[in-house]
Amino acid sequence: MGSEGYLLIVYHTQSGNTEQLAAAVEEGARWVPQVKVSRLLAARVDSRMLRECSVLIVCSPEYFGYMAGAVKDFFDRTYEQTREFTIGKPYVVVISAGNDGTGALTSIERIVAGYRMRKVQEPIIHRGKITQDALARCRELGQTLAAGIDLGIY
Ligand SMILES: Cc1cc2nc3c(=O)[nH]c(=O)nc-3n(C[C@H](O)[C@H](O)[C@H](O)COP(=O)(O)O)c2cc1C
Repeated sequence: MGSEGYLLIVYHTQSGNTEQLAAAVEEGARWVPQVKVSRLLAARVDSRMLRECSVLIVCSPEYFGYMAGAVKDFFDRTYEQTREFTIGKPYVVVISAGNDGTGALTSIERIVAGYRMRKVQEPIIHRGKITQDALARCRELGQTLAAGIDLGIY
């Protein structure tokens, strides 16, 4: 997949909550059909995918006040090979949490600062059971980002 118009949604999930949010982001992005979208478990994402994407969306549950271990592993595996290519790369974070989510968000933001990526939308932190409202917010986020790629903003 080339870099032209490529939206990469990286996620991890155990009980499916984060997957629902990530899938909603993907659904919204697909409303802009000319933009390529890829939604993958963090464990399956490699450096090339991160290097080539136009926009990165990181969707993580909060586990023990931190991002999911698989998301941390994704960052650990890709940093050395991508850090020259991620300067200014647009990113957005989506968190699924039981009752907090700030630890997961803070830990991701600290790492993407190391990659020198650029936040282009405020994060979504959803707490508790997944609601229609949360899914709608994620669809809107996906559509907005895909439209931004299509318009050449990202
Ligand atoms: C091992 C474990 C640790 C968790 N730690 C936290 C936590 O520190 N803060 C929080 O708000 N929720 C915590 N939760 C709740 C999850 O963040 C929440 O259920 C989330 O929606 C799970 O997403 P998933 O279904 O994609 O795995 C934890 C859940 C598990 C399984």
